[in-house]
Amino acid sequence: MDRYAVVGNPVAQSKSPSIHEAFARATGQAMTYERILGPLGAFAETARRFAEEGGRGLNVTAPFKRDALAIAARASERAQAAGACNTLAREGDTWYADNTDGAGLVRDLTVNRGVALAGIDVLLLGAGGAARGVLLPLLAQQPRAIVISNRTASKADALVERFGARGPLTAVPPGALGGRRFDVVINATSAGLDPNAVWPWSEGLFANGAFAYDMIYGDAPTRFIRWASGQGVERTADGLGMLVEQAAESFFLWRGVRPPTADAFELLRPTR
Ligand code: ATR
Repeated sequence: MDRYAVVGNPVAQSKSPSIHEAFARATGQAMTYERILGPLGAFAETARRFAEEGGRGLNVTAPFKRDALAIAARASERAQAAGACNTLAREGDTWYADNTDGAGLVRDLTVNRGVALAGIDVLLLGAGGAARGVLLPLLAQQPRAIVISNRTASKADALVERFGARGPLTAVPPGALGGRRFDVVINATSAGLDPNAVWPWSEGLFANGAFAYDMIYGDAPTRFIRWASGQGVERTADGLGMLVEQAAESFFLWRGVRPPTADAFELLRPTR
């Protein structure tokens, strides 16, 4: 049986094993998928040992996504652009690095939620690794504009500097957005994880019929989604769909088969 695993630290919380087991059942693929708690500072060693034991592919989560890119002999353009790798695949005696996070987000938005991104105005909140990881796939959908807004403005400016040639990308600090309204607002900040964090954006950023998407997910509606709902936004989603879709992209890379995702999504969705 071909072996796959997710490596992280911590890793106990990872839903990837349940998702990939559901995919393997649905597609009849003979494979196993385990969790590996990676010792900090030793990702290369963890990956090498897994490969020596016959491992075929790894999902990589915090804090190893940069290390995973660094050990690969070859990397996809989207992994290079993201500066991070969430999927490693064995290629002969070396690793191939990919990043399926952005594709997962785009697929969840466009296919599962029916939100066409072409020609619309998108606001991306945050300029850390999560935001950078989805920029190229979002731009490839040809929105009319993507505005990056970050608490630390210089980090949004740096992303525009780097990717501005790839599409209509601008950076606007939270305090300077007044009067602009967006069709899709994506939260790529980690602000919701800290209950005491001050939220730097004012209300009034959502156009009529706008969609609010939080890349973070939780058992209860996230802080960002509550913020959007409180302003009358009716179309919202958290990042659980993105999680399932990025996994499907990884599975496709490894197995050459695109798994159905609806069942895995239902399996994970807590009953509210
Ligand atoms: P990730 O890989 O999850 O993106 P990160 O690189 O640490 O993690 O980035 C976290 C993002 O959340 C950043 O955009 C950060 O803003 P700063 O660049 O100003 O630090 C954003 N963030 C975290 N806490 C926040 C808060 N309370 N309000 C607004 N943005 C916040």
